[in-house]
Amino acid sequence: MKIIGLRSSSDLAAKVAKQLHSELVMPEERRFPDGELYVRCDSDLSGEDVFIIGNTHTDAEIIEMILTLSAVRDYAVKSVNIIAPYYGYARQHQRYRRGEPISSQILTEIFASYSRSIATVDIHDEQTLSYSKVKFTDLHADRSIVDFYRHVDIDYVVSPDDGGLDRVKHVAEALGKKYFYIEKKRIDDRTVEMKAPDIDLKGKNVLILDDIISTGGTIAKSSAILRQKGASRIYVSAIHGLFVNSSESKILENADEIHVTDTVAGKYSDISVYQVVCDYITGTHA
Ligand code: R5P
Repeated sequence: MKIIGLRSSSDLAAKVAKQLHSELVMPEERRFPDGELYVRCDSDLSGEDVFIIGNTHTDAEIIEMILTLSAVRDYAVKSVNIIAPYYGYARQHQRYRRGEPISSQILTEIFASYSRSIATVDIHDEQTLSYSKVKFTDLHADRSIVDFYRHVDIDYVVSPDDGGLDRVKHVAEALGKKYFYIEKKRIDDRTVEMKAPDIDLKGKNVLILDDIISTGGTIAKSSAILRQKGASRIYVSAIHGLFVNSSESKILENADEIHVTDTVAGKYSDISVYQVVCDYITGTHA
């Protein structure tokens, strides 16, 4: 078995390869003068089960994944498998208006044509899994979050909307803590109203947990509401931390600490999902 680490996930891929005692291959990459990407895998992959670990979020990452899928086909590999810790375009998993693409469908169809399996971590909506003709597994990072917070003094785990309640319930129960969600009501295109239940949070420590921090608006507003209700220490966590336009600064106006997983590498990604990925590889491809 060989692990290929793409640029977006090189640290995570290195941890996985180390844990599995497998060789880590980092493809050579450079840009042609006109900006196009050149990729080469200079490692003998013949007869190997190959796992390519890399996100498919930015357009550059998608091209990198597609070119790498083609590059490994130059060797007589046993199988090619994609692990995209953060699966991009999953929020456009359906047509909302006439004339739109189903973005996650077209990308999944391309990836599935060149691989034996696909896996990701906490995809935004599981409908995308149905677009794949090969096995497409959605892994869950809850246990990485639980391990991280096991010895942290927390009273409540909070979901910033009802959609994330299952994850929050699972994490809270594993930690032996109470939980609740903030009601999120869309008033119009631009206005969202958020309201926490009537619980006294004076002197309480809370962990707000979401699937994605993108613009940070949801988490920033949740933190402000919980602070107003008297929360003492506010921890913020998410599976995927995108932090569009340095949104961490508005989150930290009220939150005390931010910890996200390393599905997307960054300053706050100090919760690793490598064990979840390793268990998936050994469990399904041993
Ligand atoms: C919503 O369905 C998601 O669970 C997140 O709450 C949302 O994507 C976060 O986005 P933002 O950081 O832009 O508020």
